[in-house]
Amino acid sequence: MTSRTLIWDWPVRLFHWSLAASFAGAWLTADSERWLNFHIACGYTMAGLIVFRLLWGIVGTRHARFSDFIRGPGAVIRYLRSLLSAHPEPHAGHNPLGAIAVVMLLTLGLATAASGWAMYNEMGGEWLEEVHEILATVMLVVVGMHVVGVIFSSLKHHENLIASMFTGYKPGHDGQGITHTRPLVAILMIVSLGSFWAWTLNNPAPAGVDNASGDYQGETTGDTDNDDD
Ligand code: HEM
Repeated sequence: MTSRTLIWDWPVRLFHWSLAASFAGAWLTADSERWLNFHIACGYTMAGLIVFRLLWGIVGTRHARFSDFIRGPGAVIRYLRSLLSAHPEPHAGHNPLGAIAVVMLLTLGLATAASGWAMYNEMGGEWLEEVHEILATVMLVVVGMHVVGVIFSSLKHHENLIASMFTGYKPGHDGQGITHTRPLVAILMIVSLGSFWAWTLNNPAPAGVDNASGDYQGETTGDTDNDDD
């Protein structure tokens, strides 16, 4: 029987699926004034999660650390070459190519949330709205590439990376595992996320939104064609 090794701690797994959910939530509600509060809450959630992940990339467990997976161009080229062979270079954590997508997703996530926040606080005009939309669209494209990359890597390396992001375990990689899943940090994350969402749901009218109509009072696209209310 193949051995399995613990690679992803609880905070990384919780971060990942919460980030994916908040991105999906923000994307699906992007054109709806009725869902503006929810859209904004998803944006704040994404930003908070990414700020946490940046810290966890410094103090987290072995494979969560940036020093474990951020590599130079040489390593990326070597890995790309190895993909052409029958036995691609094994990586217990993120492979050098996947790591590029991870860094792009973290950067785009923060930039998209920040531009949305600035837009909502009327710090820019139409151009800021354009920037926000472009960032979100680029992020969607990178997410698509990320998912395709994950499926491709899973097939090439004969390991189910998606299941690993749930269980924390990968087959093989003996001696490269982590010993602690950091459940307390994950509980703190759940409490923080839960408190934020409870607060948001009980205070549904951030400045700039008329609660009775749900209309956004700040500058918007002026394009209400897609409104679903
Ligand atoms: C159904 C959709 C998705 C699937 C199946 C998926 C799957 C995965 C898997 C398997 C990994 C680990 C890759 C590895 O072992 O090296 C991963 C990492 C990652 N994914 Fe996704 N992903 C999805 C959606 C997303 C979305 C929507 C985002 C961003 C908005 C995202 C951002 C990330 C990030 C930032 C990491 C690095 C995790 C970390 O190190 O903390 N993923 N994803």
